[in-house]
Amino acid sequence: MLYIGIDLGTSAVKLLLSDGKGRIKNIVSKEYPLEFPEPGWSQQNPEDWKQAVLTGIPELLNGFDAGEVEGIGAGGQMHGLVVLDKEDRVIRPAILWNDGRTARQVEYLNETVGKEKLSALTANIAFAGFTAPKLLWMRENEPELFRKIHKIMLPKDYINYVLTGVHSTDYSDASGMLLLDVEHKRWSEEMLALCGVREEQMPKLFESYEKTGTLKPEIARQLGLSETVAVCAGAGDNAAAAVGTGTVGDGACNISLGTSGTIFISSGKFGVDPNNALHAFAHADGHYHLMGCMLSAASCNKWLMEDIFGAKDYAGEQAGITDEKLGRNRVYFLPYLMGERSPINDTNARGTFVGMTMDTSRSDLTQAVLEGVAFAIRDSFEVAKGLGIDIRRSKICGGGAKSPLWKTIMANVLNIQLDVPESEQGPGMGGAMLAMVACGRYSSVAEACEKLTHTAETVSPAPELAARYEERYQQFKHIYPALKPVFSAMNG
Ligand code: XUL
Repeated sequence: MLYIGIDLGTSAVKLLLSDGKGRIKNIVSKEYPLEFPEPGWSQQNPEDWKQAVLTGIPELLNGFDAGEVEGIGAGGQMHGLVVLDKEDRVIRPAILWNDGRTARQVEYLNETVGKEKLSALTANIAFAGFTAPKLLWMRENEPELFRKIHKIMLPKDYINYVLTGVHSTDYSDASGMLLLDVEHKRWSEEMLALCGVREEQMPKLFESYEKTGTLKPEIARQLGLSETVAVCAGAGDNAAAAVGTGTVGDGACNISLGTSGTIFISSGKFGVDPNNALHAFAHADGHYHLMGCMLSAASCNKWLMEDIFGAKDYAGEQAGITDEKLGRNRVYFLPYLMGERSPINDTNARGTFVGMTMDTSRSDLTQAVLEGVAFAIRDSFEVAKGLGIDIRRSKICGGGAKSPLWKTIMANVLNIQLDVPESEQGPGMGGAMLAMVACGRYSSVAEACEKLTHTAETVSPAPELAARYEERYQQFKHIYPALKPVFSAMNG
């Protein structure tokens, strides 16, 4: 049997075809545009996702027996607000996870409603990218459109809706809306009322590995698939990536270096960071996790390489960063190109190089960007440590994890071992695995992880280099607090 995993990302959708043993048979990637209509705003057209998926699946199946496909599962970019009217038309472009337009609504939620109340109702506080502040923004700024909202969804739920006609979501993705009572896995009536929406506008809640429906006949025909193909609820991309890398159970950790950068710590039981710097969300295995999310990770490197240097050869640009330069760079980079979420929660923060001199080279800047992202991940790692979570090793995945240099920097900045999974297709593989569980091929997500995920290599820190990076990190830690008032004055 074959399974399709959908990784609905920010720059592209990656479709993956796997057999029941987790062997990847084919991958197709389709890019779509991302709009930044104002500084700090970020939106995308859900129709573009739909077209990419509907044209990509037949390409993915080219040369394979489509009759073998048993299930489909998606992992998707989280938090994005997708709104549909009565006729199922998308009302406005989706407002994405890295959009910073809701600073005022976030302030209202955190200061007027109050962080304590939000945390009691949802296990989280408000961050600009979360879905609830976007609903408040729409209500204030686009009241006509807000009144037309018939259905509210998250990005991968829109794709599932197109495929099945079922208005569903899963607990991991719903956790990031600030509308879910995460601990008890039900919509928070109080939060819905506060945002001016009703439960019937919300999708039905499922576990990620539950089947929500089968393909609509016209979609099955269009894709060349059988109408019996099962679609599971799927997961937010980080939870899906965690499944794809085998990050389940108590205290397992996964770091993802994608457009965003995340540190994901799975847990058997529900728990909240008392300062809410880390998100407390449901996991796709039926349990929970804590997560720190930085808004720009591999995207900082892409920005420097492509937009600033006009370079495509990333490895070539990194070639000058030799071993003796590691831990000795005097240039620092704050990776806040879209503001920042975890742990500083500051939409005004901006990307910044600090410490340049006349001898600073192009490769020092490249190194500073790779290191700045690692230091910012370390900030969230430190929060987890402060909660008594002892992380000695982690999985690593995402586009940035393809760079051996970046993995070395990460392992030494965090001073932990990094296990690189055999398959780097985190969310897509996770989506396919969730579909396998929904189809009964494995009895649980934990069993699928145990049988299907394997480590290809482990990157270990070197004591002397880790000590040098420790000194650099202690310097880095001073930069943002010193610049915070400057960022605030510049953007306030
Ligand atoms: C997680 C988050 C990002 C997006 C990226 O909270 O906002 O990781 O899911 O796709």
